[in-house]
Amino acid sequence: MTLRNTLRAATRQDHDRVDRLGAAFDLARPADYGAFLQAHAAVLPAFEASLDLAPPEDLPPDWPQRRRAQALAADLAALGLGPALAASQATLPTRPTRLGALYVLEGSRLGGAVLRRALSTAQPAAPDAYLAHGEGLLLWRSFLRWLDNQPLDAEETQAAILGARQVFSAFETAFEAVSAPVR
Ligand code: HEM
Repeated sequence: MTLRNTLRAATRQDHDRVDRLGAAFDLARPADYGAFLQAHAAVLPAFEASLDLAPPEDLPPDWPQRRRAQALAADLAALGLGPALAASQATLPTRPTRLGALYVLEGSRLGGAVLRRALSTAQPAAPDAYLAHGEGLLLWRSFLRWLDNQPLDAEETQAAILGARQVFSAFETAFEAVSAPVR
C-alpha cells in the first residue's frame, strides 16, 4: 500500500467531518465566504510556517511554490477582513508528522477546486487567489509522486497519520469556531 493510500484510508472519517462542516458555508453569500477564509487563515499559515522550519530535504522540492498563506492573506485583505481566530498550534517535530501534514494541506486543494467553481458562478467578482492557487500546475499529482517515494517504516507511518489528523482536527476546530453566520 502506498503512503497516500494508507493516509487516505486512515483519515477518511476526518475528511468526512471537515467536508460536512465546510458544506455549511454557502459560498454564494459574501459573509460565509469571508468566514470560510478566516477559518482557513487560522490553520494554513500556522502549518506552513511550521513546515518552513523543516530541513529542506523533508519538503517537496517545489515547496515555496506550494505555500498559499500569501494568497489567503490577499483575499482576506481584499474583503477587508482581519483574523477572526487565534492561529492553530502546529506541532510537527518529525519528518513523518510533516509528511502527514503536507498530505492534508496539499489534498485540501482538491476540495478547493470544487469550491472555486461554485464561488466563480455565485460571486464572480470575489477575490479567489487562495482557492485558485496552483490551478493548472497539477500540484496534487506531483505531490503524490513525491510522497510515495518517501520511505517510512511502520512506526513512522503511524506518526504520519497523527500529523495528518492534527491538520484535519485544526480545520475542524476552526470551522466550528467561525461557524457559518446565522441566517
Ligand atoms: C479544510 C478542509 C479540507 C481538507 C483539509 C481536505 C483534505 C483532503 C485530502 C487530504 C484529500 C486527498 C484524499 C486522497 O488521498 O485522495 C482530499 C480529497 C478531496 N476532497 Fe477534501 N478536504 C477538505 C475539504 C473538502 C471539501 C469542503 C470538499 C467538497 C467540496 C472536499 C472534496 C474533496 C474531493 C472532491 C477530493 C478528491 C477525491 C479524489 O479525487 O480522489 N474536500 N481532501
